[in-house]
Amino acid sequence: MSEEIKNNIKIVDNFLRKIFSKQKKSGLIIPMKYGTLTGGKKIRSTIIFNVAKIFRLKRQKVVNICAAVEFIHSYSLIHDDLPCMDNDSFRRGKASTHKKFGESTAILAGNSLLTLAFEIIMDPNYKIEKNKKNLLSKILAEYAGHTGIAGGQFLDLSYEKRKKSMSKIIDMQKKKTGKLFKFCFLAPAIISGASKQRIREMGSMGEELGLIFQIADDLLDQKGIKKNVGKPVKKDQKKGKSTLIKLMGYKKTLEFALIRKKMIIGKLKKYGFRSNQLIRTINFILDRSY
Ligand code: IPE
Ligand code: IPE
Ligand code: MG
Ligand code: MG
Ligand code: MG
Repeated sequence: MSEEIKNNIKIVDNFLRKIFSKQKKSGLIIPMKYGTLTGGKKIRSTIIFNVAKIFRLKRQKVVNICAAVEFIHSYSLIHDDLPCMDNDSFRRGKASTHKKFGESTAILAGNSLLTLAFEIIMDPNYKIEKNKKNLLSKILAEYAGHTGIAGGQFLDLSYEKRKKSMSKIIDMQKKKTGKLFKFCFLAPAIISGASKQRIREMGSMGEELGLIFQIADDLLDQKGIKKNVGKPVKKDQKKGKSTLIKLMGYKKTLEFALIRKKMIIGKLKKYGFRSNQLIRTINFILDRSY
């Protein structure tokens, strides 16, 4: 893992710890922390920092966005591992949240992380304009909901053991994974007051990158090592998951992702050195072994 990513993990984890320490007491805080804090790459946060660089924003202006995104991402993983979904017992190198605390607690901790995300954007101590907070919350709510993560997860499960077309698979993956990446690209542009066209352009790049990220995850499910990825591997085929790999094989899927990656990097070149870090992160996403 690069020093940059390691450093971002530290910054974001410290901020998340601070948020947890300010919460009132409840029986769900420990499972919420368990599902959020250790082991994850926090790659979405690194992307937010990288995009913030393009828009000349300080970290302080986006760290609440990182926290909100990490809370929603972690909630989605806690629920993704439940027996009624992917039924996985191992995540981020340790027992899945429901294995450790029980199913009902995992569901409720997940729900609480989802709502905490919006508390953190609306926090009065987060100093950005109110209209921007409103817009960010509205967009994030949409992307987490039935046409975003939840809707994509629904499709992912309903496509199991069925033959689906390439466009259906891409649409499902853009929803379950792409929308949150889209938000990571959009949010710094919105906060910096960028034009509507620029915001749209960043958003579509983010969604594409999310698709590539999910493809890389699917590739790792086939060729990765459990010890490295920190979660079970070779599960997608057993579950009959509809992936591009199932449709066209490992090699063609990798080529497909590489072409799309090149297109995104090409579009970022116009930002000159300010996009260098983001380009490095994008390259990492397809080269990673974890
Ligand atoms: C895994 O996401 C789930 C997908 C959307 C593919 P990550 O690979 O970002 O998971 P962590 O946070 O690093 O564990
Ligand atoms: C999960 O996709 C996507 C989410 C939005 C949670 P996967 O089911 O492939 O993620 P892993 O492989 O369990 O991390
Ligand atoms: Mg899943
Ligand atoms: Mg899963
Ligand atoms: Mg996977």
